[in-house]
Amino acid sequence: MSAIMMTGELKPLKIVIGIKKNRSHNTLLLKGKGLVDSLKRGDMKKYKTIVADPPWEPSISKILGPKWTHINKASPHKHYNVMKVEEICDLQIPSAPQAHLWIWALNQHIDWAYQVVRSWGFEPWQMLTWCKPGLGTGRFQCNTEQVILCRKGNRQGNPFGMTGGTWFSWPRGNHSTKPNAFYDLVERVSPPPYLELFGRRKRLGWDCWGNEVESDIELDSLQ
Ligand SMILES: C[S@@+](CC[C@H](N)C(=O)[O-])C[C@H]1O[C@@H](n2cnc3c(N)ncnc32)[C@H](O)[C@@H]1O
Repeated sequence: MSAIMMTGELKPLKIVIGIKKNRSHNTLLLKGKGLVDSLKRGDMKKYKTIVADPPWEPSISKILGPKWTHINKASPHKHYNVMKVEEICDLQIPSAPQAHLWIWALNQHIDWAYQVVRSWGFEPWQMLTWCKPGLGTGRFQCNTEQVILCRKGNRQGNPFGMTGGTWFSWPRGNHSTKPNAFYDLVERVSPPPYLELFGRRKRLGWDCWGNEVESDIELDSLQ
């Protein structure tokens, strides 16, 4: 731990180098990247709209074991690393005081998405359904996916645009890829600046963060 003295009337600013361990810790977080970076963090861009498609680990993968996770083409493990719900909750999201969040959920674990939404300081507002053409895999041949639209801050001056209903017939893409029509909807309903979390492709006018893309920002974690 180290401290620097600010000039004038200001009190010393405490800086912790490392990972923040508990939520009540209100000192400035540094990840060993140096003072200049850390001070810039204070001016960090705040996003009015955030899209998140987290790498959930479905409990079915624990029930069915490695046979399923490594063979079944629907298993996320075959496509990317997964994260625990607590790890996702602990991410420090750079949202504006008034902001919108669109978070994709697993049908089996809608509650996880609500947990993350609230730990990021948002309230769920509306669930929207992507209806996919044809049938999917598994017992239910699942052909729907849910995205929850959420709000942070007062509704005054922070309205949603018209969505045009609550279900959408959009084409399928590769595993877990969300259709362009979804991003078009976000841009109609929610204001810029836009940030995509766990993104894999850059979209014009958006910042992006994820481990498969050149990220525009760094995120801190409470863990
Ligand atoms: C469900 S996919 C997102 C798919 C994306 N919406 C699309 O349309 O292509 C989740 C992404 O999160 C990434 N991811 C997994 N663990 C991560 C971590 N610890 N930090 C950042 N990204 C991570 C995965 O590699 C994967 O790219």
